Amino acid sequence: MKTLKFKNGDELPAIGLGTWKSEDKEVKKAVKIALNNGYRHIDCAATYGNEAAVGEALAEVFAEGKVKREDVWITSKLWNNAHKKEDVIPALKNTLKDLQLDYLDLYLIHWPVAWKPEVDFPENDDDFLSLEEVPIIETWEMMLEAKKQGLTKHVGVSNFSSLKLEDLMEKTKENPELNQIELHPYLQQNKLLEFCSTHNIHVTGYSPLGSGDRAEALKADNEPSLLENSTIMKIAKKHGATAGQVLIKWSELRGNAVIPKSTNEGRIIENLESTGVNLDEDDLKAIADLDRHFRYVNGKFYDTKGNSYTNIFDDDNYSR
Ligand code: A2P
Repeated sequence: MKTLKFKNGDELPAIGLGTWKSEDKEVKKAVKIALNNGYRHIDCAATYGNEAAVGEALAEVFAEGKVKREDVWITSKLWNNAHKKEDVIPALKNTLKDLQLDYLDLYLIHWPVAWKPEVDFPENDDDFLSLEEVPIIETWEMMLEAKKQGLTKHVGVSNFSSLKLEDLMEKTKENPELNQIELHPYLQQNKLLEFCSTHNIHVTGYSPLGSGDRAEALKADNEPSLLENSTIMKIAKKHGATAGQVLIKWSELRGNAVIPKSTNEGRIIENLESTGVNLDEDDLKAIADLDRHFRYVNGKFYDTKGNSYTNIFDDDNYSR
């Protein structure tokens, strides 16, 4: 399996199991199936509400002895209600407790957005904390402190545009090591990838399959389907692969990590087996032409009138 290498020699396996939208009972089974079938990278987040279930699976698999903690890359993310200086390390410790771990491999600031500690999801302007109240650099400095304390081996961000990365990099001596962003053929983000590559920031792509199991409320009208895209389906047929495998292989070939979510045994295994699919130049050209700058996770849920984050993806033109 391809890996992404970090400065200290650590390696992030290119294909990981996504756990967003996975129910507790299912995610426990899914993580066990994944680890027992060769996955060595699990992507988690406090806000997914299922880290305790993921932790049970990890504990059981490690206790069986076939897979060791140090052989698995585990990522988690700081939720938006814990950006205040004093809240970052306690939030990370909570995640470690839920995951039953001593350390994470990677901890990310989930969004460049902050709101009040007591708010789970904002309903009005008052729920947000402005950038003046909680500057992102303060949150970032605590992420670095967490790394220093050995609570996580690496630190990074998620959903950061190139402008937001630039702004943070101007203020800190230690850059994020990775940016996790939405990536798939309808949102290829070539400029943002170039920017990250220039600055030695690794990239993990989320929603590689189009995230079809999101709640209806989070979906746009007439969303385009990636798994049913005729070009993707034709390429899949040509190679005797599935559409999901073509989408995952495409991500891997671009040099990023990718975290397809599944709780289905067959599809968990199928997704890892995408490494065996060979896409040719014609396939890559056809997929390159599919870019339509479409976000499944468009950040609109942060758009209340008065908050300072109404423009999360502020380099949309730049990243096209
Ligand atoms: P399931 O969990 O039942 O397998 P994303 O990773 O973009 O968020 O997409 C996740 C969605 O894609 C889930 O609905 C998941 O369902 C489904 N899925 C995962 N792997 C495949 C696959 N190989 N083929 C088709 N659908 C898949």
